[in-house]
Amino acid sequence: MKTVYLLNGPNLNLLGKRQPEIYGHETLADVVQSCTTTASALGLGLYAFQSNHEGAIIDKIHEARDKAAGIVINPGAFTHTSVAILDALNAFEGPVIEVHISNVHKRETFRHHSYVSLRAEGVIAGLGTEGYLAAVRRLAMLLA
Ligand code: DQA
Repeated sequence: MKTVYLLNGPNLNLLGKRQPEIYGHETLADVVQSCTTTASALGLGLYAFQSNHEGAIIDKIHEARDKAAGIVINPGAFTHTSVAILDALNAFEGPVIEVHISNVHKRETFRHHSYVSLRAEGVIAGLGTEGYLAAVRRLAMLLA
């Protein structure tokens, strides 16, 4: 069975508690559960990881080189700053879908640029936590 990695960056552990007017009321555990159910219905395994540390996310992307067929990633604020995460994703061969819960283009200009978008096959922003499920579905299509 192919496995997809669901990677979440800094502050996303606070999902459901942090600025719910922007990020909604669902917790990260809720998101992981619904993504696991969706992936499984599509014949995919799902492994989820969240970290507030850039290096830990990079280590997981390296691990994904051997263990994952595709990656769904919400890099949080590292989206807008991390050349190192972009480099790690460029060393991964499978498809990558970038997810943002909020519509970053409607927010501060510093959120409009994404290093990760230079690598991602697709970018989803502003669909709320539903965006993660759309990303898993898209990966399933790309990996079929
Ligand atoms: C985010 C948008 C980022 O700008 C922000 O730093 C986040 C979350 C989103 O999911 O909308 O932490 O990636």
